[in-house]
Amino acid sequence: MQTIRVATPSARYDVLTGSGLLESLAPRIEKAAGRLPRRIFVLTSPEIWSLWAETFLHSFLELKIDPPVALFLPPGEPHKTMASAERLTREMIRAGGDRSSLLIAFGGGIVGDVGGFAASVFMRGIPYVQVPTTFLAQVDSSVGGKVGVNLPEGKNLVGSFHQPRAVFADIGVLGTLSDRELRAGLMESIKAGIIRDRGLLRFMEEQAEAILDRDPKALERVIAASIRMKADVVSRDERESGLRMILNFGHTVGHALEQVTRYKAMLHGEAIAWGMVAALSLGRARGTLTAGQLDRLETLIYLYGPLPALKLRARAIVAATASDKKNTGGVRRFVLPLGIGNAGVVEDVTPSELEAAVNYMLDKAKAG
Ligand SMILES: NC(=O)c1ccc[n+]([C@@H]2O[C@H](COP(=O)([O-])OP(=O)(O)OC[C@H]3O[C@@H](n4cnc5c(N)ncnc54)[C@H](O)[C@@H]3O)[C@@H](O)[C@H]2O)c1
Repeated sequence: MQTIRVATPSARYDVLTGSGLLESLAPRIEKAAGRLPRRIFVLTSPEIWSLWAETFLHSFLELKIDPPVALFLPPGEPHKTMASAERLTREMIRAGGDRSSLLIAFGGGIVGDVGGFAASVFMRGIPYVQVPTTFLAQVDSSVGGKVGVNLPEGKNLVGSFHQPRAVFADIGVLGTLSDRELRAGLMESIKAGIIRDRGLLRFMEEQAEAILDRDPKALERVIAASIRMKADVVSRDERESGLRMILNFGHTVGHALEQVTRYKAMLHGEAIAWGMVAALSLGRARGTLTAGQLDRLETLIYLYGPLPALKLRARAIVAATASDKKNTGGVRRFVLPLGIGNAGVVEDVTPSELEAAVNYMLDKAKAG
């Protein structure tokens, strides 16, 4: 079990990762929240609840308190909406929720983002706890307090910064996750390594077999290192005014890929993986990465693949990067790798440089 502290100007909380956390959830939440309120809600998806409800509820029954009221969000990006947040907050009112209530987001990144957002606006903000169940949510989305929903005009366009009271990343729940989801989530750990942690990269190179076989010790090492990286960055720059932007490594092209394929063709982590290949090639073109470093990092990304095929045109992808949220006041920002374990934000990437990087990525995808 590992405990990692997040300390931002607005909140201090612990992220716990290890095996068996779910079985002892209620007393752990009580410790983090001060006391358990009369009404606790758990937002989850029907799929996760059917697999894990019994384990989840066990510790609440032992404490002899009312079990959390379950609220459901169907799976998939189309449900990450204002309409879902409205429905959930209305259900909370009807089930006796008030200012003292607590919400537990028990699911992947979508449940975490919508649950955190609903908690941030319900009664002008109630406390919530993240219990992430996908690899991606454990190493990335549950930490840092960015919560929100999509609009028809784009992804994550409405949201808040609302830090959780605690995060419990139980490695055991990953046992029912599909192999494809696991591999996609691991791309976020590769990202963490490229931008800030060479040791993590080396471990992922050397222990790929154990990690992909879901060896609990190997997974815990990768998850804890990834969380530590994110916790450190978020603690230094909660509101993404500078340093936190490096967490968007691979996202300029990754988000563009998701947008042009309407979020249907690939998982978030897979899109980010291709986006990282494009960003690495841009780094090579600018001389911030050697040919050897580019080769090493690309090899690692493909090791945790396969990545989806890309039957797309470079121009459409480049055009879609224009709506990147990092761009403000007409300035286009791009996260560039600076050697291995370091990254920086540049504002002078030209459309033709970006097109060359996208073409490099498309060539790699064609080569399979
Ligand atoms: N807030 C942030 O900082 C942040 C960061 C990165 C990504 N995100 C967001 O996260 C979302 C993606 O999250 P995700 O990759 O976790 O996908 P997801 O939430 O869609 O979950 C993936 C699928 O796995 C299923 N699932 C979840 N846990 C399971 C388990 N233990 N066993 C079996 N099935 C399980 C879910 O029901 C779902 O069908 C995107 O909306 C993205 O924008 C947010």
